[in-house]
Amino acid sequence: DLLIGTAVAGGGHHETMDYDNPFYASPEYRTVLAGEFSSVTPENQLKWEFVHPAQGEYNFGPTDDIVAFARANKQEVRGHTLLWHSQNPQWLEQGEFTADELRAILKDHIQTVVGRYRGQIYQWDVANEIFDGRGNLRTTENIWIRELGPGIIADAFRWAHEADPEAKLFFNDYGVEGINAKSTAYYSLAQDLLADGVPVHGFSAQAHWDMRWGLPGDMTANLQRFDDLGLETAITELDVRMTLPEDGRPTDEQLAQQATYYTETLQACLDVAGCKSFTLWGFNDQYSWVPVFFSGSGAATVMFEDFETKPAYDALVQQL
Ligand code: XIL
Repeated sequence: DLLIGTAVAGGGHHETMDYDNPFYASPEYRTVLAGEFSSVTPENQLKWEFVHPAQGEYNFGPTDDIVAFARANKQEVRGHTLLWHSQNPQWLEQGEFTADELRAILKDHIQTVVGRYRGQIYQWDVANEIFDGRGNLRTTENIWIRELGPGIIADAFRWAHEADPEAKLFFNDYGVEGINAKSTAYYSLAQDLLADGVPVHGFSAQAHWDMRWGLPGDMTANLQRFDDLGLETAITELDVRMTLPEDGRPTDEQLAQQATYYTETLQACLDVAGCKSFTLWGFNDQYSWVPVFFSGSGAATVMFEDFETKPAYDALVQQL
């Protein structure tokens, strides 16, 4: 019963690339998306700057298309994301709002967006990347926490729950795959919120790996401690980047090593009873965010640009 997901390209860095959005333009992309996955996550289309580009103006078209595609192909949809420090529109970040106004803006956004997809989005990343690497709340970067205080996090979960009582509501972050200061900050916050009856249902790790680092050895133990709190867990944005050789083509050795990063991450999820959702951050190197954001790195997905599968793909299929 494990759902296998992928991000669906669109918005974000894709807007600056010289290809048409493959979700609309590439039949091959759509075939793989429909055939290989049981869950889809709009990669950018539900982020504030895309879904709420002007105050009071919503742009639901791209997500509506993904939701319709998912329904036609019997797939679930993950929602990403409602409260984040990044990819917010200028009208919000540069606007001069009072605290009361900001609170009303967030509440309205959450209820409008979650409400629109009520019953159609099974998991929501309500709060994304709220802690820094040392486990401190991002009190300067995150407009909501900065202007409204940390209590706004519980409110965001409550508002999302009101808008869709069936949706599972998550904390999501990178660098929280193993046990460390950051994941422990989430663990403590989750304990406090659960004790207060806040509707938090899940904790997810993005899993954006770089082959220059080893994998943490305690991924299963980390997911398990959240499971023990009664939370669902998930892997939400898995990709495995590497430093590319000059010709841009990964070596066989790199591809073999990459496969182990994919399978070890899947294994951690398989080992934990409440880990029911395992999502790749894209499946084709051509559309991956990695080379755009980490220069010199790439080849992070399970397929080459021509959709040829990599050893990582075969290894995952075998493991399932
Ligand atoms: C990335 C997208 O893949 C890019 O297209 C976009 O330009 C920037 O954001 N953590 C997250 C995701 O939670 O939303 C990010 O996605 C990758 C890191």
